[in-house]
Order: sequence, then C-alpha cells, then structure tokens
Amino acid sequence: MIYITRREHFNAAHRVYNPKWSDKKNLEVFGVCANPNWHGHNYELFVTVKGKVNKDTGFVVDLRMLSELIKKQIVEKVDHKNFNLDVSFMKGTIPSTENIVREFWKQLEKPIAKLGCRLHCVKLQETENNAAEYFGE
Ligand code: NI
Repeated sequence: MIYITRREHFNAAHRVYNPKWSDKKNLEVFGVCANPNWHGHNYELFVTVKGKVNKDTGFVVDLRMLSELIKKQIVEKVDHKNFNLDVSFMKGTIPSTENIVREFWKQLEKPIAKLGCRLHCVKLQETENNAAEYFGE
C-alpha cells in the first residue's frame, strides 16, 4: 500500500462561535476567532489517498485527476467564501478546523473511491501553527 498526498490552497473567511451562547461567552471561549465581523485564513489542504501502484503508470492515482476532484468537491465551494454563510455543507456546523476536515471528508470519500484508490487523510492547515487531520473515524 502506498500513500500519496495532493496539496491545494484556498482562502476563506469564518467566525468561530456558538450561536447558543452570549457574545461574552463566545469571546471567552473562542477569543478573536469569535469576532462578529469575520476574519480570514490562507488555508492549505492536504488530501492523502492510498492504494496499489498501477504497473502501467507507476501511479496510485493520477494526481491531475485527484487535483481536479478536490477543486470540484471542495475548493470551488469554499475559495473566497465565508464558511458560516456561503458553504452549504457547513450549514449548522461551527467552522472550526476540526469540523471542516470532517465535512471535507464527507465530500471527498465517495468520489475518490471512483478513482480506484481510497481516501486516507484530510489535513487542513489553518495557520502555520494550527492544523487538523481526519482519518474517517
Ligand atoms: Ni479563524
């Protein structure tokens, strides 16, 4: 089994807050990420798939096809968008890095299986210091 990773980039805005809580409590828990007027991140998305190497190509997957798939399923829906307002699959979900990787997984798992490999990990780097990874469980 070989694992191969494709990186994609997007920019998006969000506000991390719990609508059930007061502004004061949101500020205590989430700090400046709860700023009512939004803020943005330069996100780096890493999608790792696993599979056997095709003898004819030497590939687990054609990375151009994987890139196109990630762009169609994720990047086109989130790039230069607001996670709270614009992204239908994030509706009702606090757009923390943890929740975003889980929702991205749901968008990617089945289409990636059609490429003849399996999704292994969705990693989202929100800042240089913060990243979340999801392995489907
Ligand atoms: Ni943030």
